[in-house]
Amino acid sequence: MTTEFAAEIERAIGGTFVRSVEVHRVLGSTNDRAREVEHPLPALVVAGRQTAGRGRGGNTWWGGEGALLFSVVLERVDIRVPDERRSQIALATGLAVRRAIVEVRPEIPVRLKWPNDLLVDDRKLAGILVEEADGRTIVGIGLNVNNALESAPESIPSIGVSLIDIVGEPTKFVDLLGAIVRALETEFGDLERNDVPIDRRWSPHCALTGRLVAVTVRDRRTEGVCEGIDQTGALLVRLEAGLERIISGTVERL
Ligand code: BTN
Repeated sequence: MTTEFAAEIERAIGGTFVRSVEVHRVLGSTNDRAREVEHPLPALVVAGRQTAGRGRGGNTWWGGEGALLFSVVLERVDIRVPDERRSQIALATGLAVRRAIVEVRPEIPVRLKWPNDLLVDDRKLAGILVEEADGRTIVGIGLNVNNALESAPESIPSIGVSLIDIVGEPTKFVDLLGAIVRALETEFGDLERNDVPIDRRWSPHCALTGRLVAVTVRDRRTEGVCEGIDQTGALLVRLEAGLERIISGTVERL
């Protein structure tokens, strides 16, 4: 990662809502660095590699060399969405990343797994970690781009996938990053206006609708058929006892 690369990124995101960029060869976690950034916000923090990348629920995030790892850090007030709808920022981010991938690689059938994964043929292409800290909203994105998954630790290749595995050639980071930032601007605007509720925008791309899933909320595990999400962004699962709304938790396909 060079200053030349930073300049390329600045060109690719020119005219968007992002006001500053920093690029690191190695960072612990771009989400952690995003808490400390003192440049004008919204800012972009990009890393070539992370030594302590974090996922949801305290999981670590593996992103080998060639993965696109970054956070967009905004003042909380930059996304004018009331508290009760803030969990939808992760859903809108998923929509944005999906839209950008399809713009750059139209042949790839990317689907969304509630609340914040992007899948191709049921394997994980990208993960999103949205955090609110000290008046900031931090949108962390890890996208497997040019990191062939055969170089990943043993457990990863069976559950993960990268763009290079699918298309067989490298994808230009800056094209993808520029497309994601533009798509985030569009999706956050749609989220603020809420003219079309999130379920209508998100459900067409849901990887779980109609499928048998297991949902774990705290220690309670239940199984049922997913019926998409509702207008608040909650996952809907049909159980024997009736339709359950899942607000947070982990979901697995069965
Ligand atoms: C998940 O799938 O649980 C979310 C993974 C999010 C990973 C990204 S990589 C860039 C940013 N920095 C982090 O430490 N995590 C996010």
